Amino acid sequence: MEFQVRSLTPNIGAEIIGLDLAQPISDETMAAVRNVWVDNVVAVFPRQEVDDDQHIAFSRRFGELELINMSALQMDGKPEIFEATNLDRDDNIMVDDNPVLAINRGNQKWHSDSSFKRVPATGSMLHAYIVPGPDDGGETEFANMAAAYEALDDEMKAKCDGLVVIHDFYWSRRDINERAFTQAERDAIPPVRHPLVRVHPETGRKAIYVGSHAREIEGMDFDEGRELIEFLIEHGTQSAFTYAHKWQVGDLVLWDNRSALHRGMAFDDSRIKRRLHRTTLAGTGPTM
Ligand code: OGA
Ligand code: MN
Repeated sequence: MEFQVRSLTPNIGAEIIGLDLAQPISDETMAAVRNVWVDNVVAVFPRQEVDDDQHIAFSRRFGELELINMSALQMDGKPEIFEATNLDRDDNIMVDDNPVLAINRGNQKWHSDSSFKRVPATGSMLHAYIVPGPDDGGETEFANMAAAYEALDDEMKAKCDGLVVIHDFYWSRRDINERAFTQAERDAIPPVRHPLVRVHPETGRKAIYVGSHAREIEGMDFDEGRELIEFLIEHGTQSAFTYAHKWQVGDLVLWDNRSALHRGMAFDDSRIKRRLHRTTLAGTGPTM
């Protein structure tokens, strides 16, 4: 193994030290990296000197990538890159009524990427270009929802096992100006069903699968379902299960959407510049 691993918290996150992503990486090393990532839910590759193309190429070593299908968010010429930023193309802060800003603010709610798709994303990898200062906020926070499941009491586990959740992108974005999306974009992402408890295909661990796109629990009274979803998000995101990444320019952070929730933490987006680029590892099949 040509890297070291440093654990970031007892329950989630590991830093991979000494691996230069600008150099060729063997299949054997990739297999070791994948294990560290899956076992720790979040893998941090600090201070890399790579560009978007190298970020895309490294991401592809983990599997196929999702292409960004929302025109407002897609980067020119690179549909593999989602821009998590409050900046326009020239790195000027966007004006407040820009719908892209509102969509990105939606990422400040706990969520799992693409859980509104029938085949949701396996993982995601953010790469930092422009970061807030040390006291400016704007961290990205992750929660280990497998550890959270294991910490539930037996009665709650039994209640959750077997339930089905309806996920809906337009539920999580219900506060946003409708003009942010075209009708065709709306029609393209109808609500989907996922198990409330997902079994991880690589570790066999069960994880609670909820987040901001989770609208209701199938067959349950709406308010009762909301209460359960909100309880599980609250339970899963308590500090014992979380890691907040404070960004440095060049950092790459890879997380497992099958076993993590994540959110952007608040910062003054009218004053502070922040530009992160994300690739998204496509799922390999439906969750049920
Ligand atoms: C994302 C996301 C949060 C952030 O890019 O998927 O949720 O901190 N980003 O920008
Ligand atoms: Mn996200």
